Amino acid sequence: MNDAPPLRVLAISGSLRRASSNTALLEAAALLAPAGMTIERYDELGELPHFNPDRERDDWPAVDRLRRAVHGADGLLFSTPEYARGLPGSLKNALDWLVGGCEITHKPCAIFHASPSSVHAVASLVETLRTMSCRLVDEASITVSLRSTTLDAQGIAAHPDAAPVIVRALTAFARAIEAYRVDPGYLPPVRHEPDPSQV
Ligand SMILES: Cc1cc2nc3c(=O)[nH]c(=O)nc-3n(C[C@H](O)[C@H](O)[C@H](O)COP(=O)(O)O)c2cc1C
Repeated sequence: MNDAPPLRVLAISGSLRRASSNTALLEAAALLAPAGMTIERYDELGELPHFNPDRERDDWPAVDRLRRAVHGADGLLFSTPEYARGLPGSLKNALDWLVGGCEITHKPCAIFHASPSSVHAVASLVETLRTMSCRLVDEASITVSLRSTTLDAQGIAAHPDAAPVIVRALTAFARAIEAYRVDPGYLPPVRHEPDPSQV
């Protein structure tokens, strides 16, 4: 019998929209989580104050809950819309609150992408997570095209094409998190290549 505690994944949607496809994708992931993994959704993105380095150490209950939730998670799962070719400000704001702490550093992360045509937001999220020394798990990061659908979480979780892709990604995420626990070299940090256009 495996007595290991379940892997705790915190799912963070970059959309505050009630009928968000990104949130539905993460909720579908929670429904499809493999045995030994729980996926809990972080739903206070809209409650966070605007990040201000001058007030970074002030007593902000919502920021404290964000830091605790990230700290307590074995892995982070993101899904985000693209706004004006970038990340939604609310998601970037949440990440900015984590820059100065240690909660997100070295955390295994995966990105579920609900809109293949929105390449800029995901590229920006990847760059931010790398900058914050997260460990991106490529084999757990997938594209599930939902833009032309109106499926809710149950519909996605029951979709004959989408569901197996999600299950495979989550299984790969669990495997990577466990291997990383045993050997931190399993998910090396991604090196920043110097930009030749910069002097
Ligand atoms: C203000 C605004 C700006 C947007 N800008 C872009 C964009 O630059 N590129 C893009 O691919 N989609 C853009 N979109 C479309 C959203 O990314 C898309 O509808 C996304 O699927 C919404 O995700 P959600 O259903 O989780 O809220 C924009 C949507 C809004 C509301």
